[in-house]
Amino acid sequence: MPNSLPAWSSLQTHYEQIRNQRLRDWFAPENDPAPTRAERFTFAGGGLAIDFSKNRITAETLKLLVQLAREAGVEKRRDAMFAGEIVNPTEGRAALHTALRATDPQAPFHAEIKAERAKMAAFADQLRSGAWTGYTGKRIRHVVNIGIGGSDLGPKMVAHALQHLSTPDISTHFVSNVDGADLYRVLQHLDPEETLAIIVSKTFTTLETMTNARSMRDWLVQGGCPEGELAKHFVGVSANPTEVVKFGIAKENVFEMWDWVGGRYSLWSSVGLSIMIAIGPQQFDELLLGANDMDRHFREAPLEHNLPVLLGMIGIWYRNVFGSQSYLVAPYSEALHFLPSYLQQLEMESNGKSARLDGVTVDYPTAAVTWGEPGTNGQHAFFQMLHQGPTIVPIDFIALLTSEHPLPGHHSKLLANCFAQSEALMLGRTVEEATKVAGPDKPELVPHLVFPGNRPTTTILVEALTARSLGALIALYEHKVLVQASVWNINPFDQWGVELGKILGKVVDADLVAPAAEVGKHDSSTSALIARARVALKSPK
Ligand code: F6P
Repeated sequence: MPNSLPAWSSLQTHYEQIRNQRLRDWFAPENDPAPTRAERFTFAGGGLAIDFSKNRITAETLKLLVQLAREAGVEKRRDAMFAGEIVNPTEGRAALHTALRATDPQAPFHAEIKAERAKMAAFADQLRSGAWTGYTGKRIRHVVNIGIGGSDLGPKMVAHALQHLSTPDISTHFVSNVDGADLYRVLQHLDPEETLAIIVSKTFTTLETMTNARSMRDWLVQGGCPEGELAKHFVGVSANPTEVVKFGIAKENVFEMWDWVGGRYSLWSSVGLSIMIAIGPQQFDELLLGANDMDRHFREAPLEHNLPVLLGMIGIWYRNVFGSQSYLVAPYSEALHFLPSYLQQLEMESNGKSARLDGVTVDYPTAAVTWGEPGTNGQHAFFQMLHQGPTIVPIDFIALLTSEHPLPGHHSKLLANCFAQSEALMLGRTVEEATKVAGPDKPELVPHLVFPGNRPTTTILVEALTARSLGALIALYEHKVLVQASVWNINPFDQWGVELGKILGKVVDADLVAPAAEVGKHDSSTSALIARARVALKSPK
């Protein structure tokens, strides 16, 4: 178990030695000769560079963290995943998202993957060229992706990020919530004659997706689409093609994914169809190539320089040694607006577990709460707490060195803010400095003007937001999650924790509309909530 490994206890001892040391002192010019701390702790791979130097780490910390990764068998777990072994034992499945972007023809399922991608490309091309038309012969101008979780967050995040590479001829929309407002708000602005829905669901049984899919069909029919022409407005993506056909989608319009691709790792498969329609098959290939760049780096780079390993292990340093409860992702990019919510599922659905692989309950913390918001917005909302609150929240800053938009005068300000935040969090402001700022007349302000500093941050640098660099960035986090799961000895590829709520949800749903005499028994709180809602919903008494 990780906490009985030699490196784990060495890290605890090491923490006691450095816990009171300050980043500001480590960076003081007299203590930071060439090669500087920044040079010693910046590493590159897969087209990205990461500056880890503003973390509470020394060379010894990294040595021990890498030792822990080795002792915990990170390399073995990584190699097993790439080889297609059953790394998801509770579901008896492999996790082969890396095969989806492999360039090596010997990679698992290569022929199948290529065939499905060719089918996607042919369809995307037809849509993009206007050759695919709706029931009145008009070309498709709006695509609505209906899915939730992994069938929504990845495609939505990437489509939004790469808007600057997208065709202006087709608008892409994402609907996930069973709250009808989500679908309604999108459909209000669309014309059924020009709209195509992609129903994305690995299982094709998910309540939210199936409810939205049915309402979408009703909207099309009510908008004038004859039942017999619905095939022109619907395609399905699923690992359960039988259910897709049962729903009424034409067999030839079903795109397959496979049970060896986890939902939250699936944007590289036909789940990414909406992305491909937006940016085109060539750019989609670039996205895959970027992920493949990071896959190769993860497999080949020594652990000491391996970006996903370092990112993951430094996360473990804060979670398991410092006791941090959460970590923040702050992309300084509106294009990356949905990256934090995508990462929430990736990190927390993967590693928010208490059962070890052998079934024993862990006695150490696993996934930290992942949260985030693009900069600079966060600075005007919650950064106050990051600077002066008593809680230490490690941060991943993501900076794009060039902008993807043409507006002058913005980008340098954006980058300046990103870099200044990490500098301020690192430096803090001492009592002496605060006293000067307060001035002789306001000594009572001094405690309010002190910043503790020594707050750890990582800065991920991306030259430009291209499909390729985005692919690498996403794969970086995917592999980081595997690294941490390997140390924590948990399965990052299942999600049993979502089941109970789903089961009870069905029962409550029935109770909301059942005749009064048939409403089931619940605890007093749930019963009272159901009773209130039954009145509001005007259910039969
Ligand atoms: O409920 C959680 C979950 O199973 C996620 O893991 C998954 O990404 C999402 O629901 C959607 O599932 P599906 O693609 O099968 O509709």
